[in-house]
Amino acid sequence: MSENVTELLEAKKHIIQVSRELHEVGLLVRTWGNISQRIDDELFLITPTGIRYEDLTPDMICEVKISDLSCNGDYAPSSETAVHAAAYKVRPDAGFIIHTHQVYASCCGALGEKKIYTYFEDEDIVVPCAPFALPWTDKLAKNVEETLKKYSDAPGIIMANHGALCIGQDSKEAVYVAEKMEIACNNFLIDVCKTDMHHGVEEGFNSHLENGHIVYDIHDTPNRVKDIHKEIYARRPDVRYIIHNKSEAVVTVSRTATHMRPLLYDFAQLIGYSVKVPSNEHGKDGSNYHNIKKNVNAVFALDDGAYCLGVTYDDAMDASIVLDKGCIAHLAALRHGECHYLSLFDCIRMNRLYRKKYSKLADMYKHDKEKQ
Ligand code: 13P
Repeated sequence: MSENVTELLEAKKHIIQVSRELHEVGLLVRTWGNISQRIDDELFLITPTGIRYEDLTPDMICEVKISDLSCNGDYAPSSETAVHAAAYKVRPDAGFIIHTHQVYASCCGALGEKKIYTYFEDEDIVVPCAPFALPWTDKLAKNVEETLKKYSDAPGIIMANHGALCIGQDSKEAVYVAEKMEIACNNFLIDVCKTDMHHGVEEGFNSHLENGHIVYDIHDTPNRVKDIHKEIYARRPDVRYIIHNKSEAVVTVSRTATHMRPLLYDFAQLIGYSVKVPSNEHGKDGSNYHNIKKNVNAVFALDDGAYCLGVTYDDAMDASIVLDKGCIAHLAALRHGECHYLSLFDCIRMNRLYRKKYSKLADMYKHDKEKQ
């Protein structure tokens, strides 16, 4: 193997290793986010689109030309390739770039701020926000490019209603930028938005379908909860797994009748574009009322968290993670008093694109690989 080929292979392996580490600590979730490494002035390597980090192999990492985004390899490069290329163009010192959907930075990016003024330990920090544009568009790459040019010494920026872009000379530096930004953004949420929330999923009463029968994870699941599970399976024949999410943020949102309009684009994709917490559990006819709707993967129970729905356990867990983040963003926005909601039109487009195309990529690649 020539020296060049060996170096490329090592770089691809390194990208995979970093992506897995970030996945394990929760800075990357599901197939969201992407990672790239500069090879030279003309080329960079980037993760492929829509593939789970645990399934990545070096042959899947794509080689992309910075000037025209042309790509070498059998796999389609990340849908945010243009964003990475724009960053390599305006930041000659950039050697490694990480795009994450990390929780606290993403929530800060939904508040409609141009910059987040915050701190990390005893250092003042400013995190610039690139204006919102739909993911996967040239407009987003342009917005990122302009923001990086304007704030030429910022090691990381937030893409509004979306996630973070962290730049380093090498992977270690880029990972540090991501970690530091997350702590600094959490400080902003705590101090300015009075939103001090742990993130994660706390499971309550879960269930799944086995040969058409409902199997509850907890033997003595209360009947009032079983009734909700039965209603969900009856009205959503596509659902096979239900995770009862009782995280701090989800339970807090479930305490007040509210309408959650998407503040983050992965919420619009995975949870839905209009999610309601009903004011009480009694419908007009006196029966229990839950807002169960096609293509809405969270059903709130008043004061008791929400049921997150999926075809597989992983789908339901991903919905739980994204709902938790969406609830933190929702609470922070209420307490901040200002935010930037995504338009209904954009949400519908993103939701359709996700359901019909993007969400299918991971399994499609997996089946192709198994056939080989
Ligand atoms: P890719 O899977 O195409 O890299 O996209 C994930 C993402 O985070 C888009 O913003």
